[in-house]
Amino acid sequence: MKKADIGLIGLGTMGANLALNIAEKGFRIAVFNRTTARTHEFAEEAGPLADNIMPCESLEALVGAIEPPRPIILMVPAGSAVDEQITALDPLLARDDIIIDAGNANFRDTRRRMAALATTGPHFIGMGVSGGEEGARHGPSIMVGGPEDSYRRIEKVLDAIAARYQGQACQAWLGPDGAGHFVKTIHNGIEYADMQMIAEIYGILRDGHGLAAREISPIFARWNEGRLNSYLIEITARVLEAVDPETGNPIVDMILDRAGQKGTGRWSAIEAQSLGIPATAIEAAVAARSLSAMKNEREAAQKRFGVPAPSAGAPSEEKLASLEAALFAGKIVAYAQGFSVMATASREFGWNLPLGTVARIWRAGCIIRSQFLGEIAEAFDGAPETENLLATPAFSAFIEEAHPHLRQVVAQSAESELPVPSLSAALAHFDTFRRARGTANLIQAQRDFFGAHGFERVDRDGSHHGAWHGS
Ligand code: 6PG
Repeated sequence: MKKADIGLIGLGTMGANLALNIAEKGFRIAVFNRTTARTHEFAEEAGPLADNIMPCESLEALVGAIEPPRPIILMVPAGSAVDEQITALDPLLARDDIIIDAGNANFRDTRRRMAALATTGPHFIGMGVSGGEEGARHGPSIMVGGPEDSYRRIEKVLDAIAARYQGQACQAWLGPDGAGHFVKTIHNGIEYADMQMIAEIYGILRDGHGLAAREISPIFARWNEGRLNSYLIEITARVLEAVDPETGNPIVDMILDRAGQKGTGRWSAIEAQSLGIPATAIEAAVAARSLSAMKNEREAAQKRFGVPAPSAGAPSEEKLASLEAALFAGKIVAYAQGFSVMATASREFGWNLPLGTVARIWRAGCIIRSQFLGEIAEAFDGAPETENLLATPAFSAFIEEAHPHLRQVVAQSAESELPVPSLSAALAHFDTFRRARGTANLIQAQRDFFGAHGFERVDRDGSHHGAWHGS
């Protein structure tokens, strides 16, 4: 019997859909799940694709079923399950086999695992996969990090299963080491900011203008035809028009306002902080999720402080255009921050991350997919030395046009007591970034006053102290 081209462990939603995608593209795939019943159930449900699927009841059988050198994808929950799987697989594999962790791993774990396997174990690849269930089944965006020669051996499979944007596969080898999982983490951080800013605009329309979900839905649907065109705007319009079959109410109104988070957004904020790169729009989005979880405290606070009733009336066309431009401006800053974090990590870890390629493989398949990412790719291609999107000619023109709207929306929201944490963080970042003379001279003076930390002077080089406490 012909052996499999590739193996996959973990037949949860993502793993099962990825396996079906691989089988559909004509590759033979051996699959294994911790519970054997699930393995068989999966093969039975695969229909005509079952011909390309080899269900295996043990890890030994899985390894035996794959043509060496064996690529094996792990699609198990991030964390200790990955370590357990590696420990179980390692003795069964040859040196040139490849373990591919396709989960949402912390890149620091990926680096640790890669280093641990480097001398005696099989090759190890950390592969970010975005696009949820649908993407895994019909074409995700795939971000690969690890040894390039290992990537080359699985490239054909990845190329076949990835999403396509104008014929180009949305998959790439991005660098050695934990590069792939790092990029996926920042993708998720940007995803958090994008979602939060959309939610803030929804909040203005709902709580400031008093619009119902079904009235807000067509606004987002219309914006999806313009420069905000993206998967997240599209699904926002669809979510807002959906009705709860049990109550007949908009489903969004029946959902508790307490957001979950699995950790990748938080990791991107942590990594930004440890690299010393401001990612405040992303950080605000992570914090907003944390605050959303404090439902009881928020209810008590509303009793204490109250909130104003919607008073703005139906938004004019002009107001809607302003909200759209504000969202666009906020989004530019959030993406600029995310790309700066990647550029700095690339230098710090020696990855040589191709920023244009990162943007290109996010144009389709992933959760933040949009035409906007095509413009980001072009901006980085046109200015390869630039790490700051806000400094590229195209994006400085975009932000120049849109920031007055962001300013107006943030100012009016503050006046109306409506929270816009991520949008206002984006505005504050832009205003700080564009001001050549900031206020850190005072910070330096304070530091020198209480701790003799020294400061630089505007008129000559060297480290200096003030005569704060007499000479
Ligand atoms: C993707 C998503 C995916 C998943 C996140 C959600 O790119 O396909 O980002 O990875 O939806 O894990 O993360 P939270 O649970 O943290 O929102």
